[in-house]
Amino acid sequence: MPLHKIAVIGGDGIGPEVTREACVILSALQDSLPELKLEFTEFDWGSEYFLKNGRMMPEDGLEQLKPFDAILFGSAGSLEVPDHITLWGLRLEICQHFDQYANVRPSRLLPGIQSPLKNIGPAELDWVIVRENTEGEYSGAGGRVHPKLPQEVGIDVSVFTRDGIERVMRYAFELALTRPKKQLTLVTKSNAQRHGMVLWDEVFEKLKHDYPGITTDRMLVDAITTRMVLQPQSLDTIVATNLHADILSDLAAALSGSLGIGPTANINPERTFPSMFEPIHGSAFDLVGKDLANPLGAFWSCVMMLEHLQEKKGASLLMSAIEEVCQEGRHLPKDLGGNSCTGEVTTAVCAALKK
Ligand code: IPM
Ligand code: MG
Repeated sequence: MPLHKIAVIGGDGIGPEVTREACVILSALQDSLPELKLEFTEFDWGSEYFLKNGRMMPEDGLEQLKPFDAILFGSAGSLEVPDHITLWGLRLEICQHFDQYANVRPSRLLPGIQSPLKNIGPAELDWVIVRENTEGEYSGAGGRVHPKLPQEVGIDVSVFTRDGIERVMRYAFELALTRPKKQLTLVTKSNAQRHGMVLWDEVFEKLKHDYPGITTDRMLVDAITTRMVLQPQSLDTIVATNLHADILSDLAAALSGSLGIGPTANINPERTFPSMFEPIHGSAFDLVGKDLANPLGAFWSCVMMLEHLQEKKGASLLMSAIEEVCQEGRHLPKDLGGNSCTGEVTTAVCAALKK
C-alpha cells in the first residue's frame, strides 16, 4: 500500500488539541494495521503565527501543502485576530485555491449517543450534507463604499456559477447513489432570491434526469429546519449553498448529539490538489487547555480522510472503534453527556482499536 503524506495544521483554540489526539489514534491504527502507512508533517500556522508574522501561513504556504496527499485541520479563529482574517488567511484560502468544492458533512446518531430530539434512534437520523465550498455567499466578492462616513455601505455579493453548481450537485447525486435511501434533497431560498437560487433549481431539475435511481425533492432553507427537527427520518442526502449548508450542518451536528462529534471533508474530487479533513466544531476558546475538547469529531474526520485515501479497512476499523466507545458510553466527553477528559476518550478509542 502506498505511503500517505499527511499535513497536520492544528491552527487555533482546541484545534491543536484535537489534531494531536487524532495523530495518536492514527498511529494506534497503524499498529493494528501494519500495511497502513501514514507520515505526518506538522505546520504551526494559525493566529499565533499571524501575531508573529502578519500572515496566517507563509506566502508559499499553498506550495508547501500541494505535495501532500491530505490535510488534517483543527480550527481557525482566535480572540486576538478578527475572524474574517483568520478564515480568509488559512481555511478558505486552502479550500478555494485547492478547489475543494465539495464540503461533505455526515450527521449520524451514533449508537449510545443521545439526541436532543425525543424518541429517536440511530435509524432515524442518518444524513449527509453536501455544501458547495468555493463560491456562493463565501465568494469574497464585494466591497465597502464611503468608508467611515455615516453613509458607509458594505456589499457582499453571492456568486453562483452554472459550472460551480453543477459540479457540486453531481458530487451529491453520486454520493446519494451510495446511500441506503438513494435520496437527494436540494435546499435553496429560490422564492425570495430570484436569480442565483433559481439557477440552482434549474440545474437540479436538469441533472436529476441523469440519475434516475435517485429520489429527489426540493426544500426552502427555512422549511427544512423544521423537517430536520420534526421528521428527521425523511431526509438522507442534502445539497445546499455554502452559507445555507454551513448553518444546516451545525443544526445537524447538534441534533446528532453535539457539535463536537461532527466531521467534515473538504474534497477536491479530481484529486488535482490535496483534500482537507477537519472537525466541524470551531476553536471553542472556553475549552482551551482544559483537556475537555471532544476529539471524536477529529477522529471521524480521520475516517473520512482514510476513505478518501482509499484505505477502506483502516476507515472501517476506526469508525467501529468510535462507535464502540459511544455505544459503551463509559468514556464520553462532557458535551456528549459523559465526564471523560480528552485523553481518556482517546485512550478508550485506542483500546477499542486493539481488540
Ligand atoms: C464551518 C465554520 C466556518 C465556516 C467558520 C469558522 C468561518 O463555521 O466550517 O462550518 O462558516 O465555514
Ligand atoms: Mg459552520
